[in-house]
Amino acid sequence: MELREVIETRASVRQFAGDMVPVEHLREMVRLAGLAPSINNSQPWRFIAMTNRELLASLAGAVRGKVEEMLPVCNDEEERRAKSQVEWFSTFFEDAPAVIAVVACPYQAIVDKALPHTNLSHDDLNAMRGHPDIESIGASIQNLMLAAVNMGYGTCWLSGPLIAREALEERLRIEQPWRLAAMIAVGKPAHTTRQREKKPVEEIFELIN
Ligand SMILES: Cc1cc2nc3c(=O)[nH]c(=O)nc-3n(C[C@H](O)[C@H](O)[C@H](O)COP(=O)(O)O)c2cc1C
Repeated sequence: MELREVIETRASVRQFAGDMVPVEHLREMVRLAGLAPSINNSQPWRFIAMTNRELLASLAGAVRGKVEEMLPVCNDEEERRAKSQVEWFSTFFEDAPAVIAVVACPYQAIVDKALPHTNLSHDDLNAMRGHPDIESIGASIQNLMLAAVNMGYGTCWLSGPLIAREALEERLRIEQPWRLAAMIAVGKPAHTTRQREKKPVEEIFELIN
C-alpha cells in the first residue's frame, strides 16, 4: 500500500476476527515502531506483545475492578450508560487476538547535564518543552499502527486501561523507572472499516509567509 492510502484507511478497530497475529508480524510492527523519532534519539520505549487469553482476561478484570471502585454508584440511566461505555472502551482489548503494551522510561536530555547549576529539574524542563517524552511515545505508536494497517491488521490505541496502572504494571512485571504508557489492540478487523470524519484541511492548515 502507498503511505497515503495507509494513512487514509487507518481507523480504530475494536471488534476483531478470530485470526491469530503471528509473532513475526508483531515483531515487525515493533521494529517499525522503533524507527520513530524520539527526543535526543533516546528511544525511551519497550513493547510487550501479549496473546495469552488468561493474561488478557486478568488485565481486563483489573480494569473492571478499578472502574467499579471509581464509579461505585450510578444514580440514573445516563450514569449507568456512561459507566458501561467507559468499562467497555477500556476492556474490549481482552478479545483482541493480540495486545501490545507500550512501556516508557524517562529520557536523558543533553541539557540535563547543565541542570545541577540551576534551579530547574528534569521534570520542569520536560514540562517546559511540551513533554517530549510523551510525544516520542506517540510517534512510535503511530508508526506501529500504520505498519499494522499496511500488513492487513486493524488496531486501537488505548489509554483507558491505565486507570488500573498499578495492577497492570504488576501483572506485566514492569518495574521503575519504566511505566506503562499505552496499550494497542491488534488483529484482523471483524468488519470493513471506514475512516471516521476528520476536519477538512482548510480548518487545520495555516500558512505564515
Ligand atoms: C491517546 C489516545 C488514547 C485512546 N484511548 C482509547 C481507549 O482507551 N479506548 C478506546 O476504545 N479508544 C481509544 N482511543 C481511540 C480514539 O477513540 C480514536 O482514535 C478516535 O475516536 C478517532 O477515531 P479513529 O482512530 O478511527 O480515527 C485513543 C486514542 C488516542 C490517540
